[in-house]
Amino acid sequence: MNYENILLEIKNHTALITINRPDKLNALNGQTINELEEVFESIKHNSEIFIVLITGSGEKAFVAGADIAELNKLDIMSAKEFSEKGNRVFRAIETLDKPVIAAVNGFALGGGCELALACHIRFASENAKFGQPEVNLGIIPGYGGTQRLARLINSARALEMILTGDMISAEEALRIGLVNKVFPQADLIIKTLDLAEKISSKGQQAIRFALKAVKATDNISLTEGLAYEASLFALVCGTEDFKEGTIAFLEKRKPAFKNR
Ligand code: COA
Repeated sequence: MNYENILLEIKNHTALITINRPDKLNALNGQTINELEEVFESIKHNSEIFIVLITGSGEKAFVAGADIAELNKLDIMSAKEFSEKGNRVFRAIETLDKPVIAAVNGFALGGGCELALACHIRFASENAKFGQPEVNLGIIPGYGGTQRLARLINSARALEMILTGDMISAEEALRIGLVNKVFPQADLIIKTLDLAEKISSKGQQAIRFALKAVKATDNISLTEGLAYEASLFALVCGTEDFKEGTIAFLEKRKPAFKNR
């Protein structure tokens, strides 16, 4: 499939998506959001892809937000559609049954910060900057920022970012748990690919069940979560990978997972 604003490379069971509008700092216009929806729909059904990475083109920006030229034209009705569409696409990313890792290589502002928040793991380069600057434009985050940021870093810290519109550095993002790890920019993609390779080497059914179980904590109580974990644990013990993983350990060899 050909995309106008994203690049897709598939190699070693890993799909690398690059948001590719560098002259607009990879701002998410309607076309890019549509393409993200399409690419994630195709990845969902591609059993050869185990892991997804998202980054931005160039050295300056991951994604500098929704496209402000398009935002400027919104009225009440179209704004609701705009926000619901973005939320649907980002929710599809968040609920994908394969790990999605953001490699944040520069500005992650507004919709860019929200895109990173919808991913399961966030790696960043030292020059990355995070922010929800919507109040500077007289609006509020509309692609899930108020909800995911508050859940990830706590509501007081989220409110400080959202109410001031200030950017924070990668170092600060690391300190408050907004990103998992920070690397020099030249190493970011290599380190992210290393992580993808490590996860790809495991039994993918276990990876999928683990992802499902952990992501369930977004919606359910501890009691329900423990019951859910027990059910998934039971199911995963019915897989060939479980037999192979445990036998390989006992036979002191590397497991040869089938990944079906
Ligand atoms: N939407 C549309 N275009 C954007 C954009 C966005 N969110 N962010 C950057 N661009 C465009 C600029 O308009 C400029 O285009 P031009 O060369 O045609 O004039 C180009 O990208 C480069 O950006 P510029 O502002 O010149 O770079 P800078 O290094 O001076 O500043 C930022 C970088 C990120 C601080 C600044 O671009 C910015 O504040 N962007 C908007 C961030 C934002 O508010 N995002 C949330 C939207 S809800």
